[in-house]
Amino acid sequence: MQATQLHPLWRDYPALQPELKQVMQLMNDNINIADTAITEAILEMIHSGGKLLRPAYCLLFSQFKDTDRQRMIALAASLETLHTATLIHDDIIDDATMRRHTTSIQAQFGKDVAVYAGDYLFVVVFKILSHYSSSFKSIQLNSAKMEKILVGEVQQKDRHYHIDITMPQYQEQIQGKTAELFALSCFLGAFESGAGQLLSARAQKAGMAIGMAFQILDDILDYQETSHEIGKPILEDVVEGVYTSPLIFALQTDARKELLPLLRQQGNISQGDLERVQQLVIDAGGVTQAQALATKYTNDALKQLRKLPDIPARADLIRLTQQLLTRHN
Ligand code: IPE
Ligand code: IPE
Ligand code: MG
Ligand code: MG
Repeated sequence: MQATQLHPLWRDYPALQPELKQVMQLMNDNINIADTAITEAILEMIHSGGKLLRPAYCLLFSQFKDTDRQRMIALAASLETLHTATLIHDDIIDDATMRRHTTSIQAQFGKDVAVYAGDYLFVVVFKILSHYSSSFKSIQLNSAKMEKILVGEVQQKDRHYHIDITMPQYQEQIQGKTAELFALSCFLGAFESGAGQLLSARAQKAGMAIGMAFQILDDILDYQETSHEIGKPILEDVVEGVYTSPLIFALQTDARKELLPLLRQQGNISQGDLERVQQLVIDAGGVTQAQALATKYTNDALKQLRKLPDIPARADLIRLTQQLLTRHN
């Protein structure tokens, strides 16, 4: 297989590195479909430098009990596989040309290969889970969360170009499409390693807040960074009619009058007008308000994490969660 390069984020977490490498290896080893284009597409995606946040949270939360590490690594790999499948399909839906600083699967191999590659990865999720899961619980939970991601994505689609989308509607949407998978990763790490109800529930709660903060931060990066920094074109969401927190906040201010005619152009908006939207949103305080909300969710998560038993994994969980609030890609 290709060299397993971990994302630079993990440089400061030496204890986690070997297990994250094993997660990638296990994902790699489970890809055996007799189609070269699909195999090539999936392997490229697996080795394209994802942050591996969901498996990392799962592995950190599994350290509160002395448990079979191989099972936990497999569980973590199933979560990252599920995430990877949703990204490949998401890029088809969003018509995205870039992913992780490189050409997206759908742009490089075509939408048909991308659909099959994502579908095959969903199969791999259950292949890994059914092989390692101690009970049917994680399979049951995994399929329930897949459903929530789908519902979140469908809500987003149904609200395309909705200039009156409210923050509660938006929050419900991102809970489904992003936060639920973070919550599941944290919960399963704790639960499958044998942690009790209280710790597992705390993990779930922390994970949900981490996921909410993570998605809001992702929205903010679109308004703050250049496309070079985040590895995909900026404000593609606006072109596609996906209005996220900084814009929703700005639409509730006087900037609304100027924003509406720009947004009414929908998919035909020019690059210059997109930059105008970006500036209006920043000037109206949309980014600042979104940042405050991401900080609130991060603080909610930290409150839960600080109540965990004092082992080294707790410090890593706190540090990682704080670090995500200031990430740039
Ligand atoms: C991207 O997730 C999709 C969102 C939920 C915002 P990540 O930023 O975790 O993606 P990778 O795996 O690191 O590329
Ligand atoms: C990512 O959503 C896909 C899911 C969470 C299912 P987005 O469309 O918001 O994320 P990026 O910007 O493509 O990574
Ligand atoms: Mg997308
Ligand atoms: Mg999307």
